Amino acid sequence: MQFEITTEKLNSLQADLAIAPVYQDGAPAKATAGLSAGLRRQIGDALASGDVRGKPGDTLLLTHTGRLGVRHLLLAGLGAKDKLDAAGWRKAMEAAVRRSERSKAGSIVNLMGLEEVSGMDTASKARAFAEQWLYATYRYTATRKAPKDTRPRERQLTVAVGGDTEVGPAKAGLRQGRAIGRARNYARELGNLPANICTPAYLASEARKLARRSTRVTAKILLEKEMKELGMNSLLSVCEGSELTPRLIVLHYKGAADDTPPVALVGKGVTFDTGGISLKPGRAMDEMKFDMSGAGSVLGTLHATIELKLPINLLVVAAAVENMPSGRATKPGDIVKAMSGETIEVLNTDAEGRLILADALYYSLRFKPSKIVDVATLTGACLMALGRHYSGLFANNDGLAEELRKAGDKSSDPVWRLPMGPEYMPELKSNFADMANIGSRFAGATTAACFLSRFVKDAHWAHLDIAGTAWKTGGGKGSTGRPVPLLTEFLLGQ
Ligand code: BES
Ligand code: MN
Ligand code: ZN
Repeated sequence: MQFEITTEKLNSLQADLAIAPVYQDGAPAKATAGLSAGLRRQIGDALASGDVRGKPGDTLLLTHTGRLGVRHLLLAGLGAKDKLDAAGWRKAMEAAVRRSERSKAGSIVNLMGLEEVSGMDTASKARAFAEQWLYATYRYTATRKAPKDTRPRERQLTVAVGGDTEVGPAKAGLRQGRAIGRARNYARELGNLPANICTPAYLASEARKLARRSTRVTAKILLEKEMKELGMNSLLSVCEGSELTPRLIVLHYKGAADDTPPVALVGKGVTFDTGGISLKPGRAMDEMKFDMSGAGSVLGTLHATIELKLPINLLVVAAAVENMPSGRATKPGDIVKAMSGETIEVLNTDAEGRLILADALYYSLRFKPSKIVDVATLTGACLMALGRHYSGLFANNDGLAEELRKAGDKSSDPVWRLPMGPEYMPELKSNFADMANIGSRFAGATTAACFLSRFVKDAHWAHLDIAGTAWKTGGGKGSTGRPVPLLTEFLLGQ
């Protein structure tokens, strides 16, 4: 998808559809300044009659646009002018994108970026539009007949800016938005694929394919035999019961000097989580195909890194396994020795994400990363605590935590920090091993993070629990591609 930029005013634009902001209080919008008196009256009437209330998220399509060069005017409410903030602007833009995406317009100009929004510059507004457009136009078709679609395949999409000096920033924003949108959809596709297609071997072959997109990337896939030799028995214990063999995907992206320590992203890639012998109840178990979303998101972030040619060194580790019950499966009470040399009593085989991450995190220390961020659909407890808006953030370093929090806000892919400290550690005590893999019934997201913290030693590390944010349930069931926007923003800041 190609995005263009224009400095033309609405009066002189030619397009099938233009997205124009309106304020709830009828305050003049920059985008609609200079319109004919007739059109301005029409917009005023639409607001006065309540046809469009002007709140963020409200839209109204006007078709009788007189002698204007645009055939349809999509009014997008921005709320009250003096209360406009980034969240309101984004909400309005998302609604406008969804509405215009449903239309048959072949050329669309978005004028919403002309409004002044505190905390958003031209680049971030252009970026949000490109990213949202790609998000809204993603369709899952891999395993079904493509639904009938009358929308134009290729559209001309243009962002209007205030003047020539804004063209450069808008271009940069569109490039980032395109890269993030595409990377996010890549992660969504991996998440949405069923577990009989998206297996550990499939994830590994996708990772290899991704690596081939850039000469800066080298891929190494560790098989069971090498993992055994390395002593990754914690990871391996999770897939004892599965017919599918595990893969440890290791990707190096080199965009900076050799001696620059890499940032490490480590993802949980459980391609299906039945719970193992601690079998899950049947309700919504199909959704455990999304349990590889952490791995999908770190691969997606590499996708964006490649496309943006970021000047950093990046290490991506994705641990891909399937968690199944069988005669050979790990049983509650079994004790395994992790690569770190510590023993773990597996009290619950459904707490498997931390078992694979223990070895994946410890392995990543070999490459002396400056920072490590792991991403995992780790605990139902995190979903209970935070719902589906915020991902859970845990860190052993306040600077890194703050960096991730800011990146989440800026990319509207937010996180909320939860506690993790020595107070919780006794919960993981075991009578038979160096630690147990579960704590008590309480603070489950925190005890999981505490468990992981034992395997990163003194590295600067953060953990993102995306159990609530990686996918949507219900009618719109599907992967969200989160936290690709957050992670890409984080890497842009390195
Ligand atoms: N993948 C699940 C966590 C999960 C559950 C994510 C539901 C999203 C929705 C994880 O492997 C798991 O089963 N965790 C257990 C841990 C417990 C046994 C300590 C959980 O949260 O119930
Ligand atoms: Mn589980
Ligand atoms: Zn799991």
